[in-house]
Amino acid sequence: KFKPGLLSYKGLNLIRNVHKESYLDSLPEIEIRDSDIFVITYPKSGTTWMQYVLALMFHSDELEGDHNKHAMRIVPWIEVEMDHSTTRLPRLFASHLLPSLLPQGLRKRGKIIYFARNPKDVAVSFYHFHNVSRLLEDKEDFNTFLEEFVEGNVFVSSWFDHVKDWYSQMDNFDMLFFTYEEMKKDLKRTIVKVSTFLKKSFDEETLNMIVEKSSFSNMQLTPNANLDTVSPDLFDSSKGRMLRKGKVGDWKTMFTVAQSEKFDKIYKEKMKGLPLEFVWD
Ligand code: PPS
Repeated sequence: KFKPGLLSYKGLNLIRNVHKESYLDSLPEIEIRDSDIFVITYPKSGTTWMQYVLALMFHSDELEGDHNKHAMRIVPWIEVEMDHSTTRLPRLFASHLLPSLLPQGLRKRGKIIYFARNPKDVAVSFYHFHNVSRLLEDKEDFNTFLEEFVEGNVFVSSWFDHVKDWYSQMDNFDMLFFTYEEMKKDLKRTIVKVSTFLKKSFDEETLNMIVEKSSFSNMQLTPNANLDTVSPDLFDSSKGRMLRKGKVGDWKTMFTVAQSEKFDKIYKEKMKGLPLEFVWD
């Protein structure tokens, strides 16, 4: 059983008992292959969604039949120690890390899909997730959590720093930057965009299958896309689900007008000069 608690690693808050310093120290040197694909996110921005889409695109046979693998195992977290040498090609990875902590070979090889989500919805999703995840401390009060979120006093530290760091380093990587809201608005268009970026083409039938399977309603019913059904040690599914609401603008059910105005001010200040627009509702 894990105990909740954060570990500060080179300025980034990770999870003690999950992320090991000695392994993290070795990460920048891990060899990257041309075919490697990474989905990189700040938490609660749609990681699971893209992990599932990538699993469907490349190793769909592993999701079903005898394999019956969870999408998380097909697209594992690079920051969690495991043996990657036997992984099928292309190797698919997920990560919440910053550019400086990842394998540095990514600057020359491999592809990155960076997925960002409007931070008010991220904060609400993250707040609920604290009560479901056994790795993170339970949070009673949303206002206290929101302050911690703004300060970066949470798992993966500051949303602002994460998005700014990756956005500003886009040219150093072969990288596609897009948003949760964009994917929500037009799933098929986004999946086509992702497959074009990955230079992988699908016939219309396969494409439609991927779109259909990665819809919120289907993923919510699919054990291989839901964490709560596979890891009772990690998740208390009586308290909530990984696929909770999957909406744009759910922040309105939690933020007071005062919290929202305060947040807007901080957002404006911190994101100044960054030509990045989010959809908020
Ligand atoms: S984690 O813990 O960082 O891996 O979480 P992450 O997967 O990044 O984010 C979870 C939120 O993504 C939503 N989600 C989806 N939304 C729409 N469609 C699909 N298919 C989908 N899959 C996951 C999930 O519901 C979480 O958001 P909230 O707002 O909590 O519902």
